[in-house]
Amino acid sequence: MKKSTALLLCVVITTLFSCGRTPTADYNIVPLPQKTTMEKGSFEVTENTKIIYPDTNAALLRNAGFLAGYIKQMTGMDLKCESASEASPEGNIILRTGGQGNMEGYTINISADSMVIKGNSPAGNFYGIQTIRKSVPVIKTSSINFPCAEIIDAPRFSYRGMSLDVSRHFFSASEVKTYIDILALHDINTFHWHLTDDQGWRIEIKKYPKLTEIGSRRDETVIGNNTGRYDGKPYGGYYTQGEISDIVNYAADRYITIIPEIDMPGHMLAALASYPELGCTGGPYKVWTIWGVSKDVLCVGNPKALKFVEDVLTEVMKLFPSEYIHIGGDECPSDRWEKCPKCRALKRKIGGGDLQSYFTGKVELFLKEHGRKTIVWNEALNNKMDTTSMVMCWNNTEAGAKAAALHVKSIMTPTSYCYFDYYQTSETNGEPIAIGGYLPVKKVYSLEPVLPSIPENEKKYVYGVQANLWSEYIPTFSQVEYMVLPRMAALSEVQWCRSSSRNYDSFLRRIPRLVKIYDLYGYKYAKHIFGVKSDIKTDFSEGNVVVALNTIDNATIYYNINGGKAEKYDTPLTIKKSCEISAYAEREGKATDTISHKFLFSKSTTRPLTLKNKPYEEYTFGGGRTLVDGVVATCYNYSSGKWIGFYNTDLDATIELAPAGKKAPEISEVSVNNSISKASGVFDARALEIYVSADGKDFNKIYEKEYPQMKQDGNDRYIVTHKADFEKTNANYVRIIEKGERHMPDFITWGKGEPAFLFADEITVN
Ligand code: ACM
Ligand code: ZN
Repeated sequence: MKKSTALLLCVVITTLFSCGRTPTADYNIVPLPQKTTMEKGSFEVTENTKIIYPDTNAALLRNAGFLAGYIKQMTGMDLKCESASEASPEGNIILRTGGQGNMEGYTINISADSMVIKGNSPAGNFYGIQTIRKSVPVIKTSSINFPCAEIIDAPRFSYRGMSLDVSRHFFSASEVKTYIDILALHDINTFHWHLTDDQGWRIEIKKYPKLTEIGSRRDETVIGNNTGRYDGKPYGGYYTQGEISDIVNYAADRYITIIPEIDMPGHMLAALASYPELGCTGGPYKVWTIWGVSKDVLCVGNPKALKFVEDVLTEVMKLFPSEYIHIGGDECPSDRWEKCPKCRALKRKIGGGDLQSYFTGKVELFLKEHGRKTIVWNEALNNKMDTTSMVMCWNNTEAGAKAAALHVKSIMTPTSYCYFDYYQTSETNGEPIAIGGYLPVKKVYSLEPVLPSIPENEKKYVYGVQANLWSEYIPTFSQVEYMVLPRMAALSEVQWCRSSSRNYDSFLRRIPRLVKIYDLYGYKYAKHIFGVKSDIKTDFSEGNVVVALNTIDNATIYYNINGGKAEKYDTPLTIKKSCEISAYAEREGKATDTISHKFLFSKSTTRPLTLKNKPYEEYTFGGGRTLVDGVVATCYNYSSGKWIGFYNTDLDATIELAPAGKKAPEISEVSVNNSISKASGVFDARALEIYVSADGKDFNKIYEKEYPQMKQDGNDRYIVTHKADFEKTNANYVRIIEKGERHMPDFITWGKGEPAFLFADEITVN
């Protein structure tokens, strides 16, 4: 055989069968290590490589077991773990501790003959192991090449948290362990376990057995978003103290602290159902079957309530060795306290002070006397807060600044970046029902937890970052996984990396390899970031819409218009007519989900529009132009940016179809879209009025219609199109007024009688 033919054959064989090619580790992982210095050469790990840990070091023995387990799961290679007094035999992976600085920091030195993972503590060593684990490709192999390098790493925040609400829906002890595994994969060190709420008490308390006998069960569960319909199925579950201890140990082995939350004095209905004497009215109470904020809360004026809390916390402290105990404090209405003789008497006794602050102070003191520190939600932050306590800022990032000024530490968990119960796509049709909102991976990634307004010397009080998973709309554990992955990957980088080293495009390039690990363990995850992304811009001067499509890795994209023949996407599409565009990407022969956009062109499209009343600031998005940009919101998600919202004011838009003095177009129909989410206080219009004018000053009313108040009819979220037909008329200007609901009906228990939001999108005029 000629030499060149032999060479060619080898190339072909190498390509086809990877003949002898050893997979290579890649340190571009999530979260990205602080500093990686690549060096020449590589260290080959084979099944003969050992993981060596220091003699008598139980923590590193356990760490060694984790590393061996990970490598086995990912590659099939079975590495032995061995102890050694002098942990430096060549050819091996050596685990060590030592070093100074951040106790969760670590250094990894990979040379041609060994890999040394040195943690500043066993926890640091574990994070080094996580880094190595994530650098390994998921592939069956008998050897892996680790490029020589030095990795020096440490986290930005000492508190890196993730919560799970097990009250609204219950997840088994084994599912909670899987959750902990997922946290460990993302270098998260704190699991905030929301154990009690109105809809179920989930922790066994020996002194109060009814908490689980009665409080852990509800008769049934509301369907969807407080639709008024119920599933008729009893629901319940709780963890025995034995199960809890087992989970606490399981987490500790993975350097995860569990902070239990017993939410008080609100969110206590399950406890009140069990012990009605703890409430202001004495009941009877029922474990709640709907979502929201209950007005029935602990009767803080009754000394029995504090005794109850202290007894519960005494058992909680025995189970959880955490430095901090979370005592909730969020969303506690004072309605019952205001009418309760005991609470009124207490209020008088404390000189008219705030009852919640008083109660929080008592519990905080109790915990302090027992060597523990308190965490509260931001509503419970008060000026008398002990400086050893910590506040979790959820609906108010400014609370972080307030806490810092009081020298109280804070954990940042703002809803708009950290509430993983929100939708992760704006196109929610086909998504499992969620609480609402819109929190894509990119938004999570963009969080800068330390408010710039916090003075330099107080910034240190921002102690950590956490995302929360409330489970009202999350009935199964696979949906838990779907909601947190891959947003948790973005969170982990916010928690671990300095802001200067964060880069979303780089993150997106690193994510596919992490996802291979999700696949390996069978974790369900959301795939939106891998699908086709659209950049849609309306050109108001040209009167068209330009649609650019892309993917994170330049995968091939196919699109069609109105369901026609699929074309390969090449350059941005210019849309001038009403149509629907669908697109998907293809990778390794597999298609992603299809995305679709609807465009409507009419006499109002891209014409100048003025709004008499300002939209609500948070829901202004693109402003009035959104109503005539040709891009139609096809999903009710009012947070998507395709709707604009008005509160306690009407939509009052004037569109110039043609300037005064120019030929007035003939029109006979106006349509407006409205988004409805009743349970969120987003209601339909109560009236539609249409006016026309030749000069934009004097308007003639040509149409008027009233709509009935919305009812609770089992349908909560949808889009309504209001169409006004009228006699043909010529108009240079058309004015559209939609009157919003000013008094929400009784079924909106939290806001009855108050104004609703009115959300509108595309106005067409024909
Ligand atoms: C919360 O979301 N109520 C803390
Ligand atoms: Zn009371």
